[in-house]
Amino acid sequence: MGSQAIEDEAWSALEKSIIYYRGEPIGTIAALDPEIAALNYDQCFIRDFVSSALLFLIKGRSEIVRNFLEVTLVLQPKTGQLDCSKPSRGLMPASFKIQSFNGHEYLKADFGDHAIGRVAPADACLWWVILLRAYAISTQDTDLFERSDFQEGIRLVLELCLVTRFDMYPMVLVPDAASMIDRRMGLYGHPLDIQSLFYAALKASLELLVPNEANQFMIRAVQNRLEPLTKQIRENYWLDPDRLNVIYRFQVEEYGEEALNQFNIYSDSIPFYRLAKWLPEAGGYLAGNLGPSQLDCRFFSLGNLMAVISSLTDEQQSHKILNLIELRWHDLVGHMPMKLCYPALEDSDWRTVTGADPKNRPWSYHNGGSWPVLLWMLAAAAKKMDRGELAHHAIAVAERRLMQDHWPEYYDGPDGRLIGKEARKYQTWTITGYLLAKELIANPAHLKLMIFDS
Ligand code: GLC
Repeated sequence: MGSQAIEDEAWSALEKSIIYYRGEPIGTIAALDPEIAALNYDQCFIRDFVSSALLFLIKGRSEIVRNFLEVTLVLQPKTGQLDCSKPSRGLMPASFKIQSFNGHEYLKADFGDHAIGRVAPADACLWWVILLRAYAISTQDTDLFERSDFQEGIRLVLELCLVTRFDMYPMVLVPDAASMIDRRMGLYGHPLDIQSLFYAALKASLELLVPNEANQFMIRAVQNRLEPLTKQIRENYWLDPDRLNVIYRFQVEEYGEEALNQFNIYSDSIPFYRLAKWLPEAGGYLAGNLGPSQLDCRFFSLGNLMAVISSLTDEQQSHKILNLIELRWHDLVGHMPMKLCYPALEDSDWRTVTGADPKNRPWSYHNGGSWPVLLWMLAAAAKKMDRGELAHHAIAVAERRLMQDHWPEYYDGPDGRLIGKEARKYQTWTITGYLLAKELIANPAHLKLMIFDS
């Protein structure tokens, strides 16, 4: 199948996924699979819409993105409260749908209260800020984000993330299942995927907050957070052969500020021999999670790719991440770009960490499955670092399967060869992940919507 035919089908599927509210386009539904019960896949998910939105911006169709930003801002809770059945101030919903009542349409938001794991999405409000910046860059329209309701919305997101809670790290503290991986996967605490988005949202907010009296305090708080956050991630999440050697010989039970092993990581908890064999000399990556006696050494693509895109990692680290993807292509890309996390949790780890989740069996879905939506992040990271050949290669791999398999949500198996066991077909962000990667390759100037300078 020629590349053009694949693109044509993808564009037409994207068109069909658009949802209208009171006659205006406001988002895209998660999937349009005629064969499986929709559950909540007929809703517009904030995180899923990001890749649709970037495409619409690229094509000059900013109206739908503006409408989306406006309606979601209205859904954001604005008042603080002490009632656990209500979403926190500043959150953005995971998804929303349109309901009709007495001939009128209304929006109904899901803050995780209907979702399977009942966890609010920490990533949605961060994506919202990142997308608002992309809208501003693309349209050159400063009026929207300068509006007082938008300025307040940004401040509330920042307040929600910057307030010190039960730890004193620069990272943001979240429960498990609070992001794209919305099921239990050992991601409580400080998972990388959230930290990368947090960092990008902080940087975006500095471009968006108008430097006035009302914002001064928040702008300073963001500036103060960026440096320790960057340092913490670049130093303590980083894994490469040199770093592995340092961690291998860590002292433990050190007391006081000067401790080298700040998180009291026990050597026995880390699969050193597997890692030493797997990590190429020229490669490196950011670990999946970090906390007390915990360094989760799984590779998470979203966090690593967004770290490259947002310049959370330095130049050399970004290249090492791409080197790793290139040199461990079979493991991380295989037959479909690309693994959401690697490797899968197996046996007793799967049982304990996921709660024996049958949907997240080893090498399926979130637990080592392959997600085509990640293709755009791979393409953006590769293009940003002048490694376009990686993006071309990944797109070529995806093109062999996506259309003939009807754009599945995810693939299973260690090499990504099986269509996901419970995957929906015509999954919108599979379609947009592919199209966006193609657009970035065709015209790298579009990168400016998503990348951040260091
Ligand atoms: C699944 C995914 C989540 C996604 C949603 C809609 O719940 O885990 O990340 O947003 O489907 O596609």
